[in-house]
Amino acid sequence: MPEPLVPGGPGGTQTSGAAPGTLSVPDVSFAEPLVDELELTTAGLEPATLPRRKETVPNSPETLILAIETSCDETSAAVLRGDRTILANVVSSQSALHERYGGIVPELASRAHVQAINPALAEVLRQADVTFWDLDAIAVTLGPGLMGSLVVGVAAAKSLAALLEVPLIGVNHLEAHIYANFIEHPEASLPALALIVSGGHTLLVEMTDHGLYEVLGETLDDAAGEAFDKVARYLGLGYPGGPVVDRLAAQGNPKAIPFPRPMLNEGYDFSFSGLKTAALTYMDRERRAGREPEIADVCASFQAAVVEVLVAKTIRAAVENEIPTVLLCGGVAANSLLRESLEVACTAAEIKVYHPSPALCTDNAAMVAGCGYHRYRRGIRTSLDATPDPNFPIT
Ligand code: KG4
Ligand code: ZN
Repeated sequence: MPEPLVPGGPGGTQTSGAAPGTLSVPDVSFAEPLVDELELTTAGLEPATLPRRKETVPNSPETLILAIETSCDETSAAVLRGDRTILANVVSSQSALHERYGGIVPELASRAHVQAINPALAEVLRQADVTFWDLDAIAVTLGPGLMGSLVVGVAAAKSLAALLEVPLIGVNHLEAHIYANFIEHPEASLPALALIVSGGHTLLVEMTDHGLYEVLGETLDDAAGEAFDKVARYLGLGYPGGPVVDRLAAQGNPKAIPFPRPMLNEGYDFSFSGLKTAALTYMDRERRAGREPEIADVCASFQAAVVEVLVAKTIRAAVENEIPTVLLCGGVAANSLLRESLEVACTAAEIKVYHPSPALCTDNAAMVAGCGYHRYRRGIRTSLDATPDPNFPIT
């Protein structure tokens, strides 16, 4: 979950007349569609079109799980057969909606999820060529994430589970990111060290078995993706910043600016806010001196610093704890330099490394279904009374 905008901050969202400290909705006309990637139609959801439910065989490899992910600014629904056959994975991104504010506006995200959820469900069933009554379970992200976003997916999932009389499987979003690897790399074995790098989180987690985690390190301030997004915003590159910085860095010199490598040799925790500030300060200094900074060099040098720290700590944690496998995941795992550098470093250290394809790195419901499937197989069920938890820990 990328860091949401805070009132009064850079690119903040407080509008005139709002009480201090409250987050108000920017002046947006809701007559215009918030989500334009999906037709806003609920065709196919009418109960009259639903056939009778199939007879389910417990724990069959044919298990069909419908998953819903609305923790941040993607409305996603997926249908997974067994542990790794993605029948459909619909992702409706709100990035165009939030771009004009330079970050996520939680109230807008919540409203856009409300608009997109039913069309996403109708579309995923259509693409998967199944009906609600074919489903064996409903998986949903319970947290961490934005409360106003999570409640939309959780309400939809609970309604479906109750209506269809199938189990509800609550899933941790960070755990789901790890499972994107098991969908595409069933050969990945445990124990493994997961490097989870997203817009809201940066963690090194030892996974000893399915559902068993120990957090070895995490960021003390900004998440890696958040640092990418904030630097990109300062460079006027739009939101989300990671993919643009990644692209521009390819044309720049990673050694042009000697940005710091925070806490490189200290423990397993991370700190990216100093590095982010160093990039912003460099830009200011250059502009004050009448020089226009070479954007590609800033991107390449900043990215090189982030990646060096992530890779060094991951390798050290794997070697010191004798963990033979590394699972890279989360939105920042789509970064080309990170993928390449981690692969080179792991190969040199004789550690196996896996990463999901880019579409399964950023938020999507297929990874939630993958995690949900393993929980379903282990007999884990979530009560219909469950509520989302914005700070849901992975352990
Ligand atoms: O996992 P994710 O989709 O959402 C959260 O759970 O936070 O991660 C989104 C983050 C954003 O900060 C975005 O800028 C970053 O992932 N990101 C990247 C790349 N693609 C997405 N960061 C660096 N390089 C990329 N190619
Ligand atoms: Zn995520």
